[in-house]
Amino acid sequence: MEKGIADILARAEERSEALDERDLARLVALAPGSDEEAALFAAAYRVKCRMVGRRVSIRGLIEAGNVCAKDCLYCGIRRSNTRLERYSLGADEIVALARRAKGFGYASVVIQSGEIESEAHTAFIEDVLRRISPLDLGVTLSLGEQSEQTYRRWKEAGASRYLLRIETSSPALYARIHPAGHSWRRRRDCIAALGRCGYQVGTGVMCGLPGQTAEDLARDIVFYRDIGAHMIGMGPWLPHHDAPLKREEGGKGLGDPLALGLRMIAATRLFLHDANIAAATALQALAQDGREKGVLAGANVIMPNITDTRYRRAYQLYDGKPCLGENAELCRQCLDRRLEAIGEKILYNERGDSLRFAASRN
Ligand code: 5AD
Ligand code: FES
Repeated sequence: MEKGIADILARAEERSEALDERDLARLVALAPGSDEEAALFAAAYRVKCRMVGRRVSIRGLIEAGNVCAKDCLYCGIRRSNTRLERYSLGADEIVALARRAKGFGYASVVIQSGEIESEAHTAFIEDVLRRISPLDLGVTLSLGEQSEQTYRRWKEAGASRYLLRIETSSPALYARIHPAGHSWRRRRDCIAALGRCGYQVGTGVMCGLPGQTAEDLARDIVFYRDIGAHMIGMGPWLPHHDAPLKREEGGKGLGDPLALGLRMIAATRLFLHDANIAAATALQALAQDGREKGVLAGANVIMPNITDTRYRRAYQLYDGKPCLGENAELCRQCLDRRLEAIGEKILYNERGDSLRFAASRN
């Protein structure tokens, strides 16, 4: 193994935030299948085990609706996609799913939907949160960009975490994958506002975007620290047949998107030892055991889908979304089996709050 890489890994494993952008870029750019890449995954997995043991936290994912005001060039539920039936779950349906999660022993849920900014929607979510609160679940919201006032109201109504991916920390690349009117600065300001409101803040990026470089991805990891993120969710970008962003012709970019996503997880774990890092569903779209690979590269959170089977097809952000025909119970059993196979245990009935969040409060 190359000595330079061995040195970087040793330094990174010993101490959080020990690497600089150049080191991180070298890790992200390691050749798929190389000894160096295997050593990267192993070092990140050791850090994960040191921080949280051979345990994985679970969040039941509720895809609450696909109505969206945004028109992101990569996304299957973008506003301009008319070849899609739009749905919005009612409050009763969302509360019933939260109860279902509780019954499974999932102590946390994520409520995710397309982006809607309106007083009616803000009040609707508030109502849902108040009705869920007796269940004593950890509640994460993933409802896009909102005013700081809205974030505060939802926090007061019982949400404790919020996921808002920056998608890329490069404003120039952001502009290439979004239409006019979508603002990188507003997104960044929203993430900062979430921190001010006292949320456990989650962000992340897509990996393997057209034109994205290892240096961009290294800066993404530094961005996570600088914006004060406690949780990271990232995965490979995957094309959607009705979305305009396509793979560049001839360009292979940073290579196999699954391996790239795993290297990003590993490099992030080595930089932010105590963050909660999710093995995104997009990994599972590329390989059946993609999420387990994510855990073995340093992730410690999985978000099994608990949305009713009849809605899953309408919430396809990218082609190849897994488990379209499955239901919550099947996905639960499957995940149990899959994690057991790699010697990891699911943390049932535990919220699995971010250690990084706890540390930031001390
Ligand atoms: N490929 C991968 N991830 C995607 N997302 C949206 N569209 C895609 C896609 N085509 C991710 C974005 C968003 C999250 C909810 O899903 O990063 O923040
Ligand atoms: Fe849904 Fe395996 S996670 S079937």
